[in-house]
Order: sequence, then structure tokens, then C-alpha cells
Amino acid sequence: MLYNIYMIIRENVKLSELTTMRLGGPADFLIEIEDPNECAEAFEFAEEKNLPVYFLGLGANTIALDSGFPGVIIKNNIKGFKILEESSADSPKNSPRTSSKSSDKQSPSKASKYPPETLLIEVGGGEIWDDFVEFVTKKGFSGVEAMSKIPGTVAAAPVQNIGAYGQEVSQTLVSVEAFDSLLDEYVEIPASEMDFAYRHSIFNSGETAGRYFILTCTFRLEKKNPEPPFYNSLQSYLDAHKITSFTPEVIRHAVSEIRAEKLPDPAEIPSAGSFFKNIYLDKSSARLAEEKGIPVRKTEKTDKSGKSFIEYKVNTGWLLENAGLKGKLFHGFRVSDKAALILINESASSENDLELAKQEISAAVREKFGLTLEQEPVFIKPHTEETSENPETTSEKKSSEPNKISKNSSERNS
Ligand code: EPU
Repeated sequence: MLYNIYMIIRENVKLSELTTMRLGGPADFLIEIEDPNECAEAFEFAEEKNLPVYFLGLGANTIALDSGFPGVIIKNNIKGFKILEESSADSPKNSPRTSSKSSDKQSPSKASKYPPETLLIEVGGGEIWDDFVEFVTKKGFSGVEAMSKIPGTVAAAPVQNIGAYGQEVSQTLVSVEAFDSLLDEYVEIPASEMDFAYRHSIFNSGETAGRYFILTCTFRLEKKNPEPPFYNSLQSYLDAHKITSFTPEVIRHAVSEIRAEKLPDPAEIPSAGSFFKNIYLDKSSARLAEEKGIPVRKTEKTDKSGKSFIEYKVNTGWLLENAGLKGKLFHGFRVSDKAALILINESASSENDLELAKQEISAAVREKFGLTLEQEPVFIKPHTEETSENPETTSEKKSSEPNKISKNSSERNS
């Protein structure tokens, strides 16, 4: 077939240059698409050559293998912010809410009489996530400001349900427009069908992992000021800087400062963000963890059926720090001395180095605390049955299930 002349196809492209961990061999082909319509063509190209396909954004949460990728990498370069709906500030239905601060604390009945000013915005999946956050935050809309400076593209955000400082993409995403590679058709998927949980969605889990190429994302945001209680480290920053008036821009600035202080900029220092996930426990394991002196954070949550439950969370950063791993070097990877969840690639060049580093770090935590760590970034490999048997993918599947702690720290907990 004849391919769109604007679709850029490159051969033999080094994945170490397309991923922020800077590891990995070559991909056979790289196709960058700038228009949603090109997605079907890119797939036809791969099908004609009988090659597997992998979708990539900025490569900020992905790790390439030494063997590279024997197929076609499709990179999302679809840009644009399209405002689908914006209730205006001078609209009579909104004016009471925006005219005074106290209107932010309306009773539910009043709130329904005066619906909050909202923005429904469709964003090209290839836009840089933080450019989107900046755009809406500047307009005074709240919902994503705590996720300022998370590296990556907008299309990658729903895949692992990115989150930071108390916000998650699942809270504001309305739907995505995607290409369904199984049925070869364009589809719209509502957020309610994405099975969101901590770092988990249909896009990275189970049989649907890798099936959809996200083209655009639509968010609904509210014009309002963020309200406390804020996430601990954010609140500490606000207290230390005597900040008592909170706007989306104020929170964006605070989060940006905290991140700049603690998290390496992947454009300059190779890493894949948090390398390990935080750990969620069931009630009895949480009690055992506390008996071992591990701090467990308890939060009341509501499940999909509206039932409330207690979530028990252990900060993996705390485990790494208290296992004495902070700042230590393992096979070319340094456990960051500022945020222990981050592994910095100082001098490693192979997946073997990473595997050894991961094994040694995990063993030290298991030995001391009896908890098993799970890798957060995903490997670039074909989405086949073989992949779903891979421990990494299996652990993704289980990510919303509680980790189990053993009575004896030196026992495996899974
Ligand atoms: N902690 C330590 N030592 C450390 C790091 C953390 O003791 O070296 C403990 C502290 O108690 C701290 C708590 O862990 O109060 C939480 O730490 P922090 O706020 O730094 O967040 P995190 O759990 O390390 C998660 C996300 C980050 C996100 C931050 C902020 C995951 C895997 N990581 O990290 O996301 O920016 O919260 O909300 O959930 C990413 O996913 O790549 C990422 C950077």
C-alpha cells in the first residue's frame, strides 16, 4: 500500500535513545504519528511485515531490553489542546460560586443549583504531560496540578494511572480515543471501563495490555481552589513556606519545587522515575508489618460499589532507606539518596546489570522486612502470551492485590 507521506518511518533505531533509563538495543522500525488517522496505516505496515507493535510516548516509564524490539515501535506525536466545553466565568449559573471564597464550600444542594465552572478538554496523546498541566492550571482549573512535572506524554498517563501528591489521572479523565489493534478500529473508551487502581488500568494489565493505542485523552476539570488536607510532604512544604492560600498555580509551584529537589530530571540523569511500587497490604499483614516497626499508613477509601474500606500502605521508599540502601550503588545503578524509589543509571549498560541490581535490592528488603518489591516501569517487549507469563507483567496484573508479609522476615512473602 501507499503510506501517508507525512508518516515518518525509521529503521534500526536505538531504544536507549528513546527511553529515559538509556538501556536497550535497536528496534527494527520506528513510526512517529502526528495524526490519529495514521495509526491504522502504521498498523497495516506492521501487519504486512508480520511484526509485533509497541506503543511509546517519551519512554519515561519503560525499559528496553538488550535485544531491542523485533518489530515496529509506534511513537505518539499527536499534538493539540481542544476545548470541548468551558462554562464562562460571567455565566449567571457560575457567578455565585466564583464571587466569594466561601462559595467553594457550598452545600451539595447549592452546588447542584450553581454547578462549578468546568473545562472539558481533549488533549493530543503526544503532548507533554506537564505542558497540559501548565495550560489548565494557568487557566485556574484544578484536578491535575499535584501531578505537575511528571515526565512523559499525555497518552501514557492513563496507562499506569499516574499519580502524585494525592491526585491520580483516574479522578479527572473522562475518556480516551484509541485505536483498537485487535479489531482494527478506532474506539472511544470511557474512564469507567478502564479498571483503574494504583498504577493499574486495562491498558497495562491482563489480556487488554497493549491492545489499545491511545490517541487523545479528554479530561474534565473544575475551576476551584484545591483544599486541604494535602499529602504529607506537600503539606510540610506549604507549612515551611507559610503558604495558607491555595490556588492550582500555588500547588503546581510547590509540587514543582519538591520534585526538583528530590527527583532527577530524566532528560539529564537517566532513570525511569520510581523504579519500585509502593506496597498495599491486607489487614493482618498490616498488623504484622507494624509489629516489625514498619510504618503503615491507613486511609479510608470507597470501593466501586460504594462500600468503605481501610487501605493499608507501606512506603517502599521507607523500606529501602531503612534497609540501608539509600545512596548505594548496585551494578551501575544508584539508589537515589534523595528519593529511594528512584534507581539512577550511572554506568549500567545492560539488562543483566538491572536484573542483578533489582535482585540484590529486593533481597535486602525481603531479608529485613519480609516484603516483596514490585518493579514499576514496564519492559518493551511484544504483547504475547509469552509476555503475560513474564514475572513483570504478572506482577502488574496483581498490582491491586495486597502484598503478604511473612512472620519470619527472611521468608518470601508471596
Ligand atoms: N520515604 C522514605 N525514604 C525515601 C523516600 C520515601 O522514608 O527515600 C517515605 C517517607 O515516609 C515519605 C513517603 O515515603 O514521606 C512518601 O515518599 P514520597 O512522597 O517521596 O513519595 P514516594 O512514595 O516515594 C510516590 C510515587 C511518585 C510520586 C510521589 C509523590 C510511586 C511508585 N511513586 O513516590 O511517583 O511522585 O509518590 O506523590 O507511587 C513515579 O511513579 O515515577 C513517581 C515518581
